[in-house]
Amino acid sequence: MTDALSRACAPRVLPVATIADPALVPVLAEALAAGGAAAIEVTFRTEAAPRVVAALADSGLVVGAGTIRTLAQVDEALAAGAQFIVSPSLDEAVVGRWLDAGVPMLPGIATATELSHALSLGLTAVKLFPAEPLGGTALIAALAAPFPEARFVPTGGLGPHNAAEYLRLPPVLAIGGSWMVASKLLEARQWDAVTRLTAEAIGMAAAA
Ligand code: 3PG
Repeated sequence: MTDALSRACAPRVLPVATIADPALVPVLAEALAAGGAAAIEVTFRTEAAPRVVAALADSGLVVGAGTIRTLAQVDEALAAGAQFIVSPSLDEAVVGRWLDAGVPMLPGIATATELSHALSLGLTAVKLFPAEPLGGTALIAALAAPFPEARFVPTGGLGPHNAAEYLRLPPVLAIGGSWMVASKLLEARQWDAVTRLTAEAIGMAAAA
């Protein structure tokens, strides 16, 4: 894992945001930093995503591009200045393009076979997605037994109700989630809630 990803995962909480309006970036970045976040993952699910990534360049947050599934998206994310890349799945061509660019990455895995494939490509940190429907903490414990070198960033279905459970597991590098930066919070400009939910999650990580 290279430095940008280590720094992003240091508080063990990675907010995942889908942002349609780049104008929200300065105040959102401030709210996240006030809550203790080191990074933000910007999903490539809006037309504005590359502009949002670019707008975060001077925010002080480590900026990742998420939902990256195609070679074209890798190129778009890198051109926008993404410092790390996250994918919901494991696609060898996409991983190859990341490796060529020297950008750290979290590929998505959902099975032992996919985890084994990621490890064989030299990737020890993976996104377990979608974590809750797949089996949550029980699945991580089961995968960690035969793959002790793997580190997981479980994402999908996490929230204040179950975050602590995940954070207690040593193979969990960080948890990912959108609840701290949910679209409804962004649309309502509830920046205090973004800061509070982020701080609460990072507090759980510190206490784990
Ligand atoms: C992702 O893109 O990583 C997930 O959609 C985030 O999942 P969540 O919305 O359940 O936190």
